[in-house]
Amino acid sequence: MKVCVYGAGSIGCYVGGRLAATGTTEMFVGRPRIADETAEHGLRLTDLHGAELRVPPDRARVITKALDLTGVGLVLVTVKSAATESAAAELADVARPGTVVISLQNGLCNAAILRRALPERIVLDGMVQFNVAHQGGGHFHAGTDGGFAVRADPALSPYLSAFERAGLPLARHTELAPVQWAKLLFNLNNAVNALSGLPLREELSDRRFRRCYALSLAEALRLLRRAEIPVARLTPLPPSWLPRLLTAPDAVFTRLAASMLKIDPHARSSMLDDLDAGRTTEVDELNGEVIRLAQRIGQRAPVNARLVELVRAAETGGRRSWTSPDLLAELRGAGTEP
Ligand SMILES: NC(=O)c1ccc[n+]([C@@H]2O[C@H](COP(=O)([O-])OP(=O)(O)OC[C@H]3O[C@@H](n4cnc5c(N)ncnc54)[C@H](OP(=O)(O)O)[C@@H]3O)[C@@H](O)[C@H]2O)c1
Repeated sequence: MKVCVYGAGSIGCYVGGRLAATGTTEMFVGRPRIADETAEHGLRLTDLHGAELRVPPDRARVITKALDLTGVGLVLVTVKSAATESAAAELADVARPGTVVISLQNGLCNAAILRRALPERIVLDGMVQFNVAHQGGGHFHAGTDGGFAVRADPALSPYLSAFERAGLPLARHTELAPVQWAKLLFNLNNAVNALSGLPLREELSDRRFRRCYALSLAEALRLLRRAEIPVARLTPLPPSWLPRLLTAPDAVFTRLAASMLKIDPHARSSMLDDLDAGRTTEVDELNGEVIRLAQRIGQRAPVNARLVELVRAAETGGRRSWTSPDLLAELRGAGTEP
C-alpha cells in the first residue's frame, strides 16, 4: 500500500522522504514551487548528527492536486493548521473508505477537524517531536532530536515496519492528548521565538527570553493542574520543573538543560518562518489553546492572551523586533504571575 503525504513542506518532505528513501512507495501532494524543486533536485534529508539520505527526483514526485488516491492506504496530513479544513475537504473527495489518515500537525484539534470531514476513514492523532527546516534545493534538515508518536490503532499494523526502516518508529499511545499537551507546552516558546526574531538556541540562551517562555508555561501548567488534565513526560525532567529550570541563571541552565540546547545554531521555530514569509501562524492552535482551556474552567490566561495578540499584530503588519527586556516587561504587565 502506498503512503501519501498531504502537504509537502518541512515535515511532509522529511518524513515522507525518509519513508521513500527506505523503500516505501510515496506520493507527495504539495504546491507547484515544491513540485518544481523536487523535480530538479529530488530530496536531501539531513539531521543534526550528520546523517544524510537522498531521494532521486523520480521517487520524490510532488503532484499539486490529488485526483486519485488508488492504492493509497495511509495519508499523512502535514499542512499547517490553517489549511486543515481545506485539506480535509479535498481528501473527502479522494480518500477511500478504510484509509488510515494521521494528522502530524501541532495543536490539539486538527485530527478532530479531519475526522468530521472524513467519515468511514480511520483518522488518528499523531505528533512529530523534532524540528525540521527547509533549506532550499530539496534539502530538509532535522535540527533537533525527538520521536514520532501516534494514537494506537490496529489499522497501523501494515505500516509499522516501514516507519521502523525509515528510522522513525511509531510510539503508539492509547491516548495521545497527554503527549499533545506536553508538546504544546514546548511549543509555547514558538511565540516568544517568533517575536524575538532569533534562532532558537540564541533565544533560549537569553535568560530574559527564557523568563518570557517560563511565564507562558507556568500559566499553562497551573491551568492544566486545575483542570486535572494529564501531561506526558517527554523529557528526563517532569514538565512542572521547566519554569524553574528556564529561569535559572545562564550557567545553571546551560548545564542542566544541555539536551534542550542540543539544537542546530540556525534552527528556528516554524512560527518565526511563518512571520518572515507573511503567512498565518499557528499561534491560535498553540497559545490559543491555553486561553480556551482557561475559559472552559472559568479562569484567565493573560500571558498567553498577550502573546497571541502580539503575534497576531506581527502577522497583520505590526511587526517589531522585541528585545528580551521589552518583551518580559510586556508579559509581566499582562500577567498575574509573581
Ligand atoms: N517544521 C517543524 O519543525 C515541525 C515540527 C513538528 C510539527 N510540525 C507541525 O507540522 C505541521 C506542518 O508544518 P511544516 O513546518 O511542515 O509546514 P510547511 O513547511 O508550511 O508545509 C506545509 C505545506 O503544505 C502546503 N499545503 C497547504 N495546503 C495544501 C493543500 N491543500 N494541498 C497541497 N499542499 C498544501 C503548504 O503550502 P502553502 O504554504 O502555500 O499553503 C506548505 O508547502 C504543522 O502543524 C506544524 O506545527 C512542524
